[in-house]
Amino acid sequence: MERKKIMIGDLRAKKREGKKITMLTAYDYPMARIVDDAGIDVILVGDSLGMVVLGYDSTVPVTMDEMIHHSKAVRRGTRSSFLIGDMPFMSYQVSKEEAVRNAGRFLKEAGCDAVKLEGGDEVIGATRAIVDAGIPVLGHLGLTPQTVSKLGGYKVQGKDRESALKILDQALRLESAGCFAIVLECVPDKVAKIITERLKIPTISCGAGPYCDGQVLVTYDMLGLFDKFVPKFVKQYLNVSSLAKDAIEKYISDVESGKFPAPEHTFTIKDEELKKLKKK
Ligand code: KIV
Repeated sequence: MERKKIMIGDLRAKKREGKKITMLTAYDYPMARIVDDAGIDVILVGDSLGMVVLGYDSTVPVTMDEMIHHSKAVRRGTRSSFLIGDMPFMSYQVSKEEAVRNAGRFLKEAGCDAVKLEGGDEVIGATRAIVDAGIPVLGHLGLTPQTVSKLGGYKVQGKDRESALKILDQALRLESAGCFAIVLECVPDKVAKIITERLKIPTISCGAGPYCDGQVLVTYDMLGLFDKFVPKFVKQYLNVSSLAKDAIEKYISDVESGKFPAPEHTFTIKDEELKKLKKK
C-alpha cells in the first residue's frame, strides 16, 4: 500500500502523541528508494555526504552545487518521506539575502520540503529570513560539524551547567525564530531530555540519547558502508562494506577461473545463423 506523504504536521503530531520520529540520510537515488520504501519519516540529504561519499576530510568543502546535485537524485527516489536539504558551510552565513536565495534553490531546483542550518545565535537572523520566505527550517545544535575547529574537535557539547543552559537558550531562540524541529548532536541524554521537555517543536537526536522526539543517523554509518570511523552513538545494523568486499573478491575469482559468465549470463544466436556467419 502506498504510504501517504509525510508533512510537518505529521512530525508535530508524533511529538504530541509521544511517537518517535525516524530520520536517516540519503545522498543518491538507490539509497533514497530503499530508505523511503522502508517507511522512514524524514530523509536528510546531509552535508555529511562530503565525508561519506565524496571523500573530503570534513563537511567544510561541500558546495551548494554538490548539495543540489545530490538532493535532486534523492528527490527522484523519494515518494513519501519528508525531504530535507542540508545547507553547506558558507551558504547562509554571508547575508540573509544569500541564505534565502540558497535555501530557495533546495526547494525550487531539488524539490526538497525544507532545509537544515547549523548553529544558534549566529543563525537566528538567517533562520527567520528563510522561514519568512516560506521555507521550513530544521535547526541543528550541540556538535555542529561545519564549525568543528571553533568547537575544538568532534566533542560532546553541553557537559557542564553553563554550556547546557546555552544550548537550551539557543534551542528556545531557534524555536521562536520559526524552526519546525531541531537536531541535537552529541549532547548528554539528560540535557537533551530537558530541552525536549521545554520545546514545543520536536527534537531529533544524533547522539543525544533516547529522550528526544526522534532519532537520526547517517545511513552509511548504520549500514557499515563508511568505516573510516564509527561514532560511539552509531548502532551498526549491517556491515555492507565487508559483504560487498566478499562479493567483489568472489567476482574476481569467478572471472579469473572462467566461472563467470555462465550460460545464463550469455546471449547466443541460433545455430543456422551461426553457420551463415561462418560461411562469410
Ligand atoms: O550532515 C548530516 O548528515 C547531519 C546529520 C547527521 C544530522 O547533519
